[in-house]
Amino acid sequence: MFSRSLFQTSRPMVAKSQVPKAVRYVRTFKQEEQPRLRINALAPNFTAETTQGKLDFHEYLGNSWGVLFSHPADFTPVCTTELGAFAKLKPEFDQRNVKLIGLSAEGVDKHQKWIKDIEELSNLDKFSFPVIGDSNREVAFLYDMVDEEGFKNLSKGIVHTIRSVFIVDPAKKIRLMISYPASVGRNSAEVLRVIDALQKGDSKGVVTPIDWQPGQDVIIPPTVSDADAKKKFGDFKTAKPYLRFTKA
Ligand code: BEZ
Repeated sequence: MFSRSLFQTSRPMVAKSQVPKAVRYVRTFKQEEQPRLRINALAPNFTAETTQGKLDFHEYLGNSWGVLFSHPADFTPVCTTELGAFAKLKPEFDQRNVKLIGLSAEGVDKHQKWIKDIEELSNLDKFSFPVIGDSNREVAFLYDMVDEEGFKNLSKGIVHTIRSVFIVDPAKKIRLMISYPASVGRNSAEVLRVIDALQKGDSKGVVTPIDWQPGQDVIIPPTVSDADAKKKFGDFKTAKPYLRFTKA
């Protein structure tokens, strides 16, 4: 399992006050050691400070699904709309047994102040999932939540994080990865749609077509024979021998 020890940080031998904030930490991170994240790989574990205290990622997820999503910075307009939208949709994620965890590349104290704005702007009584304070970008590096420029600058301490989304299943496997540039806000409905599709596929042994929405027909995988499909799904429609639809 990967751990944060890949991302050791050390302080330069100069007074803190003499160093511009952006270069206060010098990373000894080796780019070639960055984990290759793939669908169905184990989601790297980490411990991190969050707005709900220090947590271990895998322990936090427990037997739930998880959505880990990153933000470039606090008090930025696009991120503010995104965190507000995810916080409002939390009951939808709860219904699907999914725990949310955000990340922004700044400290927890700043996040707490920012969350007050998000609660106000999104009419939320309480913002109720943790946001990681990733000011030294350790989790961002672990999950490769950086753009090309940020990756090149890993050792220089100046990086740009992007908007990454990781969906992790209860076995802690990465089931989906989406990356957006900092300039484009995510589609929260798409995140819910993909969770519905993954859960439908896992529970029924089916796959889902383009733009699938819950309630629509699903596809019987080509590995299932017609005879087995009949036993398993009852009726199905054959558009081509390799394209069979059923209601599941
Ligand atoms: C934003 O959230 O508005 C944002 C953050 C970083 C770069 C560009 C936009």
